[in-house]
Amino acid sequence: MVNDNKITNKSKNRPFRDVLQARISRRNLLASSMMLTAAGFVTAVAGNQVQQAVAGTGHRRKFGSHKRKYWWRRRDLLGFEPVKVADGNGPVPVISSDYEYQVLIPWGTPIQPGGPEYDGDPHTRPTADEQAEQVGIGHDGMHFFPIRRQSDHGMLAINHEFGRNSHVLGKDAPESLEDVRLSQHAHGVSVVEIKRRFNGRWRVIQSNKARRIHVNTPVTFSGPVADHPLLQTSAGNAPRGTVNNCANGYTPWGTYLTCEENFNGYFGATGDWTATEAQERYGFSESGFGYGWENFDPRFDLSKAEYQNEENRFGWIVEIDPMDGSQTPVKRSALGRFKHEGVAVTVGHGGRVVCYMGDDQRFDYIYKFVSAGNWRRMRFFGKSPLDEGKLYVAKFNDDGTGEWLELTIDNPLLRDKFKDQSEVLTYARLAADELGATPMDRPEWTTVAPGEYVYCSLTNNSRRTEADGANPLAPNPDGHIIRWRDTKHHVGTDFTWDIFVIAEDTHGTEQSFSDPDGIWADHDGRLFIQTDGTQKDSLNNQMLVADTKTGEIRRLFTGVTDDEITGITVTPDLRTIFINSQHPGNGDPTVTNFPAEQGTGKIPRDCTFAIVRKNGGIVGS
Ligand code: FEO
Ligand code: CA
Ligand code: CA
Ligand code: CA
Repeated sequence: MVNDNKITNKSKNRPFRDVLQARISRRNLLASSMMLTAAGFVTAVAGNQVQQAVAGTGHRRKFGSHKRKYWWRRRDLLGFEPVKVADGNGPVPVISSDYEYQVLIPWGTPIQPGGPEYDGDPHTRPTADEQAEQVGIGHDGMHFFPIRRQSDHGMLAINHEFGRNSHVLGKDAPESLEDVRLSQHAHGVSVVEIKRRFNGRWRVIQSNKARRIHVNTPVTFSGPVADHPLLQTSAGNAPRGTVNNCANGYTPWGTYLTCEENFNGYFGATGDWTATEAQERYGFSESGFGYGWENFDPRFDLSKAEYQNEENRFGWIVEIDPMDGSQTPVKRSALGRFKHEGVAVTVGHGGRVVCYMGDDQRFDYIYKFVSAGNWRRMRFFGKSPLDEGKLYVAKFNDDGTGEWLELTIDNPLLRDKFKDQSEVLTYARLAADELGATPMDRPEWTTVAPGEYVYCSLTNNSRRTEADGANPLAPNPDGHIIRWRDTKHHVGTDFTWDIFVIAEDTHGTEQSFSDPDGIWADHDGRLFIQTDGTQKDSLNNQMLVADTKTGEIRRLFTGVTDDEITGITVTPDLRTIFINSQHPGNGDPTVTNFPAEQGTGKIPRDCTFAIVRKNGGIVGS
């Protein structure tokens, strides 16, 4: 993706700098991590809790569906023929010989069949109005919401993270407001109704629930910050839009959560402007990422006094009802404002909802939100469980323990710097700096696995100069995956952690991967790993499946040249998995024409794959 290469965390949170453990050699850490992997979950520090998990709690399958009690006894979780390293590159995808895929909803697909379509013709582009009725670009996080619990019919909600001007507009910069609107309408979220025909092929069908949500769609705020002056502009414009929708989550009550990541890059300044401390910490700059929206749309112009605070309206998690096409998307301010990669929602002790969230920037943090009460009871009384609760940030100690530090104005460390809780939430990064949270190697997706383990991909950090226990490589160009287990069934403030895999260890083997990003754990203990970055061993970006018990990894799928593989969702029967190719060929038709036939000259388009096992088995098996 368009990574924000800056380091905006200038705080001195280097909790391990002064401790002896910082000198633990990389070799020792690697050796111990490999031992831990080989031994499954049982680690020196987490051993007791793991035993408890095995003895009693097991894994609570999400949201009340059936428990698979004996997941840890299963063998041979990975039965498929892997894609070989030597085969995993080129202009078209490669899939395990035991699997097959179908392409659906490429950029430009009409939301309603019969609507305006864009097919990748390099000599034309959709109009802004047409784009607002089509699937956007930058396919990323997504979720399949079944209709009547069916595995062949449902709503697919999908994020459109970003689209370079060269890809969307066919030029480097917008030349008119119409160009800006086209770019804005290519971003956001699509909700489409899809159905599988008797021949096994999925298609988009007419729907009164389908819709596009983009940068100009009316939205509303909820939670502690909703009515705060920090979210108001003197222009008096109502809140609109969502942007840079990266990964996602979904709630037990059936809604979609879309996460605003690199929102800073869409703002720029056409006149005099000096960044505030908060703007600097969130990475705002005069030219942003070069989208040029500020030149035609003053809402994105940081130098326009009347639109001051518009930038505070982005960087949130947004709740969308996929079954109600008229619902106004809600920005849930209690979850804090940062570069939200994604959110893994689970139900913890007392029926509280617990949200695990990464802030994807070098040296930024991992957060968790715990609802104030039982989610069913809160909803019964007309409250959103995402509006009231506590927000924490993670501190990883070198000895394999950790703490969740609450971001509350009641903490004396925050009282001097922030006026109220709304400021703490709006400037969550700054508050986390004050508390001494652990700066991580770009936290991307989180997922909750059997045994109440939470996994988080740390995609890479080429600028790390000092290793610590949780980020043991300096520099860390290829990333790793960390996991932890909280006390009190996700709601406690202590945890134990270890490192599941270090990508560098896989290089030169058939398990080779780098830059883990999208991850998802199934109920049997498989961990799906998707990549976003330059892979070693000449591989394209890819999706692999790991057995979390044995540490075995197999490659299920490789994408096309210069794309990223991201987004994971499955049908309720676990027989179809949907994933995405984002920015195939980086939008360059001389690299690939995918998903059009090679040689057609068509512009490559972001698209979704519906993947099934040829023998009808569970995906990943
Ligand atoms: Fe949007 Fe951090 O990937
Ligand atoms: Ca991306
Ligand atoms: Ca990502
Ligand atoms: Ca990434």
